[in-house]
Parts: sequence; C-alpha cells; structure tokens
Amino acid sequence: MIGRLNHVAIAVKDLEKSASLYRDTLGAKVSAPQPEPNHGVTVVFIELPNTKIELLQPLGADSPIAKFLEKNPDGGMHHVCYEVDDILVARDHLKAKGARVLGDGNPKIGAHGKPVLFLHPKDFNGTLVEIEQV
Ligand code: CO
Repeated sequence: MIGRLNHVAIAVKDLEKSASLYRDTLGAKVSAPQPEPNHGVTVVFIELPNTKIELLQPLGADSPIAKFLEKNPDGGMHHVCYEVDDILVARDHLKAKGARVLGDGNPKIGAHGKPVLFLHPKDFNGTLVEIEQV
C-alpha cells in the first residue's frame, strides 16, 4: 500500500543552525525557512536525490512539536512520511487493521499542499508516521 518515502522530519530548536549544518557541513540543497502557522511550525526543506528531509522548528505558543523538543533537547527524528495513492482508502485499510489515526480522522492539507494523516506512534514501533496522498 505505501509507496515512496516522501520525507523524514527532524525537530530542531535552532532552524538557522540546523539549516547551516545541512547546507554547509553536509553540502545539501536547503530551502529558505517557510512558516506554516496552521501547523505550528517553520519548515526548511532539504532536497536529497531520493527523498527530502524537513527541519521543523516550533512556531507559536502551542506548537505540536514543543513537547517533543522538551523531551529531546538536542532535536530528533519527529516523523517519517510515506506516499499513498488514495488517502481515504489507505485510512480505511489502516483502521481496519487496528492502527489509530490521529485527530478527527479526516485528512488535513500538509506542508506540501497535499492531504495528509498521522498515525499513532505506539502502533508503529514508536515512530510517528505521516501518510501523504501524492
Ligand atoms: Co511531514
């Protein structure tokens, strides 16, 4: 059912410092910071030949990644995103298999302007999983 790895998201405290790490130390192609107020994060996109890395920095008072950074003060891998052809078919399949879909179960528009859903990390080896319809 799942397709390509769309991105790996890493939560960071200092977006400029982390962007510089990827740009200057690792030599990757790094975008300008993009505020996503609807998601409570500012994002930097890093283009790799086979996938993307997204650096997420909290934006606003109740950012969904604030607690994660409290537990992981050096930053850390926040979620992985897999592509699916049809997000509603994928959701219904996952629910039928016992996976918990976060939120109200309806897809939201993600950072790439495409519908996304998140799956409970306790059902996926401690890893928050995002699925995105491409
Ligand atoms: Co994501």
